[in-house]
Amino acid sequence: MSTAPLHVAVLHGPNLNLLGQRETAVYGTATLADIDAALAALAQDLGVTLTTSQHNGEGDLVDAIQATASVADGVLLNPAAYTHTSVALRDALLAVGLPAVEVHLSNVHAREPFRHHSTIADVVVARVMGFGPSSYTLGLRGLVEHLRGD
Ligand code: DQA
Repeated sequence: MSTAPLHVAVLHGPNLNLLGQRETAVYGTATLADIDAALAALAQDLGVTLTTSQHNGEGDLVDAIQATASVADGVLLNPAAYTHTSVALRDALLAVGLPAVEVHLSNVHAREPFRHHSTIADVVVARVMGFGPSSYTLGLRGLVEHLRGD
């Protein structure tokens, strides 16, 4: 049995590189670097390793999901706008078959109707939304507990 620590791939979708300056009334003032730093600190506490990347292109995000297959035990994913449109992301998650948690800074169900649909809602372990940057840290805690079978 492997004794390697669990590895989680954190994937951020389009426009999340602009956090901190983008629609701050909706998304707050934390930057993506702030979120990644909070995740890194939590990962250390939890004894897991992380890789983190952000992708603006849908195909790039598909490539990143596919690349998790050989290296990760689980995926923490904010697909951003592709949440609401992308069959390709759903198919990639199904192809890879790793447990995934969907996170959103905002509560998408309290926003425009087009944000109420997620193409991946039924293929992820759980969805965490509406807590701002804490959606990510709560999602990571939940994913790690799920992976450990707690
Ligand atoms: C988001 C919500 C999406 O509807 C939006 O397109 C985003 C960010 C969130 O984290 O709240 O870009 O995923």
